[in-house]
Amino acid sequence: MNLDYTNMLAPTVAGGVDAEAWSASTAAFAAAHAHVASEHARGVLGFLDLPEDDRLQRQVLDAAAEIHGRSGTKRVTDVVVLGIGGSALGPIALRTALAAPRWNELDDAQRGGRPRLHVLDNVDPASVTALLGRLAPASTVFIVTSKSGGTAETMAQYLVVRGWLEQALGDAAPRQLIFVTDPEKGALRALARRESVTALEIPANVGGRFSVLTAVGMLPAAMMGIDTHALLAGAAAMRDRCATDDLVRNPAGVFATLQWLADTRHQRPIHVLMPYSDALRDLAGWFVQLWAESLGKHRAPGDPGFGPTPIPALGATDQHSQVQLFMEGPGDKTVTFIAVAAPTGDVEIPALHGDVPELGYLGGHRLGELLDIERQATAGALARRGRPNMTVQVDRVDANALGQLFMFFELATVYAGALYGVDPMNQPGVELGKQFTYAMLGRADAEQARQEWNLLPKPQANRMV
Ligand code: PA5
Repeated sequence: MNLDYTNMLAPTVAGGVDAEAWSASTAAFAAAHAHVASEHARGVLGFLDLPEDDRLQRQVLDAAAEIHGRSGTKRVTDVVVLGIGGSALGPIALRTALAAPRWNELDDAQRGGRPRLHVLDNVDPASVTALLGRLAPASTVFIVTSKSGGTAETMAQYLVVRGWLEQALGDAAPRQLIFVTDPEKGALRALARRESVTALEIPANVGGRFSVLTAVGMLPAAMMGIDTHALLAGAAAMRDRCATDDLVRNPAGVFATLQWLADTRHQRPIHVLMPYSDALRDLAGWFVQLWAESLGKHRAPGDPGFGPTPIPALGATDQHSQVQLFMEGPGDKTVTFIAVAAPTGDVEIPALHGDVPELGYLGGHRLGELLDIERQATAGALARRGRPNMTVQVDRVDANALGQLFMFFELATVYAGALYGVDPMNQPGVELGKQFTYAMLGRADAEQARQEWNLLPKPQANRMV
């Protein structure tokens, strides 16, 4: 993987990060790097240790093998992840990137006997009902994923699924369940003990949005036959490459520092991630949560708030949607492209209709070539308009490359946290909404939130139209 940041810098790109600020940032980055190292030494950044955690990885592979071979259960045809946020976005990104395209539409033989993978990441009743209506209880395994073991949406999904399983299978219902949660804390861990449900661990020092390389992502990946060793090897290689505090040799450091400078020095707080690869489209969604929830926050109560706004996009599709805005809208953005040097199974465009100018020039080229040329063209056009952009390039979309990308963005996020001066590991801003939800649903320990909720303005008839 490499990062080309030529188009992020002035004077190459008129609106880029100015050369003086960039040179001066080496010291700021060295301090951020030292901060990350000391947080790691303090045991806070557990995601950095996952590639070497053989015990956790063995747990995952054993569980995947055990689920396949559960006696008395029909062969597993479907795996459903119940989870939200960091407990869902990683598995979704992994499936889109590394399972065969349209995995769930393939038949058993095409999937090599591996199960379909569904990720139920919301509590919209229409989606839940539609999915359950298509599943056979005895051949479906539900992976209930929650680091805290108590998230309202995931617990509600679990209760619905548990009721559905009990109706169909009676006392055998727990056999269709597997939990992924904190090693000690939370309701799921307690339930697992009480009911002898297999429960894999998310290490206490790995936060939800940094957990894709724990059982959260690795169990669904292993069930689909994805090479989990290669994922971890890629992640380890990227982590080791970023062990240096020499900014220009540290790709995650360069990404984080340029984005931070673009935001804080050049009023470009909107950070677009635009893979030119359908396989990587959900990596952009995963990144959005990581960047937004880690970096958008107060430094102290009452301050105006800091942090960038990430936007997902997809090339070439978004050239016909958001790129107009990126080119001519407010100059408040950076765009990071992801390019794939050798796309899987390139397709030659037949040389037909040679006499029609709008079609003739395409003949003899390949679709992957067209896609990549369009990426270069868009990057060049943005640069020409003074819109800074950079490109992450991978050779191909495989498990090793994806492991590198996960680690690259996770490390960039903790570096950016240090540069912005915020704690990237917490998310206090989501708490109040959760408390109001508990209050409205009548949760016993939400009395204070209930009182606060009751004081809020209520909808007024004269303000409705
Ligand atoms: O990154 C985070 O910590 C959050 O987005 C969580 O992943 C999300 O809230 C789900 O939490 P949990 O895994 O505890 O159910």
